[in-house]
Amino acid sequence: MSFPRPRNGRPSGSSGSSRSSSSTDPLIASGLLCQMKDREKYIETFNFPYCNNVGKYEKVVKIGQGTFSEVFKARDKKDRTKLVALKKVLMDNEKQGFPITVLRELKILQLLKHENVVNLIEICCTQASQENKYKPSFYLVFDFCEHDLAGLLSNANVKFSLGEIKHVMQQLLNGLFYIHSNKILHRDLKTANILMTKRGILKLADFGLARAFSVPKTGQQNRYTNRVVTLWYRPPELLLGDRNYGPPVDLWGAGCVMAEMWTRTPIMQGSSEIQQLLLISNLCGSISTDVWPGVEALDLFNKLELPRDLKRKVTDRLIPHVKDTYACDLLDKLLTLDPKQRVDSNTALNHNFFWTKPMPTDLCYMLSQLTQSMFVYKESSHRPGHTRAAHSQQMARAKPSSTIVDVNQDRVF
Ligand SMILES: Nc1ncnc2c1ncn2[C@@H]1O[C@H](COP(=O)(O)OP(=O)(O)OP(=O)(O)O)[C@@H](O)[C@H]1O
Ligand SMILES: [Mg+2]
Repeated sequence: MSFPRPRNGRPSGSSGSSRSSSSTDPLIASGLLCQMKDREKYIETFNFPYCNNVGKYEKVVKIGQGTFSEVFKARDKKDRTKLVALKKVLMDNEKQGFPITVLRELKILQLLKHENVVNLIEICCTQASQENKYKPSFYLVFDFCEHDLAGLLSNANVKFSLGEIKHVMQQLLNGLFYIHSNKILHRDLKTANILMTKRGILKLADFGLARAFSVPKTGQQNRYTNRVVTLWYRPPELLLGDRNYGPPVDLWGAGCVMAEMWTRTPIMQGSSEIQQLLLISNLCGSISTDVWPGVEALDLFNKLELPRDLKRKVTDRLIPHVKDTYACDLLDKLLTLDPKQRVDSNTALNHNFFWTKPMPTDLCYMLSQLTQSMFVYKESSHRPGHTRAAHSQQMARAKPSSTIVDVNQDRVF
């Protein structure tokens, strides 16, 4: 009796169940071993197209940790003055290969090139080897920015003048105008995702939840997921279950960020979706068909018992912090309940806030006084008990609970 001989490392006739057992058939077992070794050799020597080896960079320090990635400050070994941010794609939970969310982020980042959007330089990977179990890691390589806005705001020594706040907001709205003109929604606007270079140039970052959008034809509706945007920055239409949303979702986030420039802490820190809606109602007034015609068509509007007859208090509540009346007026327009009436980025950029004295002021001088980079990750890990750790914001983004909690007291600034 003769056994089938392995050819090219592949055992022939191995499809029969009795013959496929490596433990019972030494020749087939050695064939499988050859096959595995061939595979490993192939993977080891495989060069991913358009992917440089990450070894060209030298990691300096870890600066961020998200659910989906780890971020490092790194230096180009050939040009040591060139700093980059390496965003490592976490593939631990991926059974189906490269995460689709990262592919989407990549595609969007390749499209967007603007002064106020973080610049993707390239994609790098590690060489597959026995040490990494033949699973290479992938990195998104960005121009390095010295700070993020969450880190800057959590440091009491960093003081923004009114002119500087205007410049931050002008750049934020410019970035939003650009991405919306390119039919992209960010869908995760928050201070940790807003970067700042040492020269005071703001960059929108983290396009991990971004997507392209289209304006539906009359009579048709988009059906996007509404489980996006970190809870504290999530607009009322998403909380009420809207799936046919658009750029106004990012403008609500811009309003929350703008208020935070003065309050230095997120203005509405709900711990569940319903609590977030209650906080919004307490600040912006009751959600009703009077102020928001058409809201009755949203899934949750009829299912939830939302507070009635609450007055809008945006200006009253914010003026003690903000002081400037033009700023308060713009905030009022950004934090408008009805997304159709909410100000868009172009109109916001024409608001008197940006065209009255003090005019927007360059941040370069103020930032040059800082001797250290400010990142929310570093801040929270170095200061135990820090209330606005990136972690809690991340939790809010990952899985908001739907428990109904009554909010008698606002947890607002
Ligand atoms: N180009 C960059 N320069 C400097 N720091 C950066 C850069 N990109 C990201 N970071 C830092 O790393 C952090 C995490 O990056 P990013 O938000 O892109 O990742 P993420 O995993 O999607 O985060 P999360 O899930 O927490 O939102 C940012 O908040 C910022 O502090
Ligand atoms: Mg992020």
